Amino acid sequence: MDEVAAVLDFGSQYAQLIARRIRELGVYCEIVTHDISCDELSRLSPLAIVFSGGPSSVFEPGHPEINPDILALGIPIFGICYGMQLLARVLGGKVEKGKSGEYGPATIEIDETMGVFDGMGETLNVWMSHGDHVVAPPQGFRMLAHTSTCPIAAMGEPTKKIYGVQFHPEVAHTPKGMDILKNFLFKIAGCRGDWTMSRFIEESVDKIRTRVGASNVICGLSGGVDSAVTAALIHRAIGDQMRAIFVDNGLLRSHEVDEIRSIFTSDYPLNIRIVDAIDEFLDALRGAVDPEKKRKIIGSTFIDVFHREAAIINGARFLAQGTLYPDVIESRSARGAPSATIKSHHNVGGLPDDLGFELLEPLKELFKDEVRLLGKELGLPDRLLTRQPFPGPGLAVRILGEVTRENLRILRRADLIVREEMSQYKRFKEIWQSFAVLLPVKSVGVMGDERTYANVIALRVVTSLDGMTADWVNLPYEVLGRMSSRIINEVDGVNRVVYDITSKPPGTIEWE
Ligand code: XMP
Repeated sequence: MDEVAAVLDFGSQYAQLIARRIRELGVYCEIVTHDISCDELSRLSPLAIVFSGGPSSVFEPGHPEINPDILALGIPIFGICYGMQLLARVLGGKVEKGKSGEYGPATIEIDETMGVFDGMGETLNVWMSHGDHVVAPPQGFRMLAHTSTCPIAAMGEPTKKIYGVQFHPEVAHTPKGMDILKNFLFKIAGCRGDWTMSRFIEESVDKIRTRVGASNVICGLSGGVDSAVTAALIHRAIGDQMRAIFVDNGLLRSHEVDEIRSIFTSDYPLNIRIVDAIDEFLDALRGAVDPEKKRKIIGSTFIDVFHREAAIINGARFLAQGTLYPDVIESRSARGAPSATIKSHHNVGGLPDDLGFELLEPLKELFKDEVRLLGKELGLPDRLLTRQPFPGPGLAVRILGEVTRENLRILRRADLIVREEMSQYKRFKEIWQSFAVLLPVKSVGVMGDERTYANVIALRVVTSLDGMTADWVNLPYEVLGRMSSRIINEVDGVNRVVYDITSKPPGTIEWE
């Protein structure tokens, strides 16, 4: 019997991150809504339950609650931030509205090195993000830590195995966060931690079979890891009911079509169809300069192509995509307000509302590194799994302004040089993405004795764990210098190269 942990989601932007950390520790983890019934939760048979944080306050009317019977199930519980405040409130402790709140790094003083703090020192650097805080723990609970502004930064009841922390152990800014989660899962809840990705595969295969039934699925391959893993997973579930399509939209990098053809012919044979739609995409994009407009055009042109392809196989009810969790949160605005949409992320770009397909997105809960593990488990070759992420809208989001054949020629050539040079860089494996961007400005230069007035290429090289945040890379000058002089010498139409030193946030990784 596999071990399961459950995260009760109170609307936290970190719920998925908590689940992912738990899976990383080898315990299968599901996210469920906070108002799950006791019966439903018991059916999952979790060995451990985590209450996530959330944007609410226990003082707001209608704040998210839990069924108190869950507390009586005898399953170890770990409340994080709002989860801890709710625990305190429901169990008879006292919560107070914070005057100013506490956001960002903090150092907590540990009062008792027990429970979730087993093996820790006297202080701990943590990440706080809260308004309210607990001022009196429920009866039987011990105060385990405090800060100067937060009288109870952690609390615990060892007999009932219920713990709460005011900070966020799941984020990278809490360096000992994984040790805290380990203490909870292994020492308190008694988990073994022997879950692997193969269990995720079995579960997904079952879910896909049930949902798809006898229908057909169109799966768009983008050349990246996510869509390839999606295709492999769905293929394992329903075999030839899935049709994998690789659309040459004219926005791909040099040699991309040949590489994809070779991977899916020799390394991982899969019946893929390569569709030439270059003219269709480039015609549709003519004159478009607004980034969101470009994304929408690309999304709807992809859908047109998929509909034509679906017609060939007597109709497909589903469209499969390699959407990952970070894509979901960045396209979804917080609480549905349209103003917070950062970009219309989707593997194929901005999808139209009247899609005409049901979406099948089996990786929607995973992060990139989990997808790579899954791909490995499915037997996909390393040369595919180690590819850098490449956005569905392709080079169109790296050509600022209008996409023309000439702009594509310039960027493709510069991109190839960046790829060649970066692959020689000794720390290449640590890089998340490295690419060239064609700017919509021209600058004056001098080559030979001639004045030039030509394009500018920006180089973008970042490290990242999951694409949600990123740091620009302090590349050695020699590497930057080589890329710059090769691009200027070898790419007709470029006379200047600049390096982007913006992290995410405030920048995004792609320029559009
Ligand atoms: P940003 O630019 O938002 O990108 O910081 C985060 C990560 O997502 C990739 N990206 C996309 N991937 N479809 C995709 O499949 C898209 O529309 C898309 N837009 C951005 C980007 O390359 C980076 O890895």
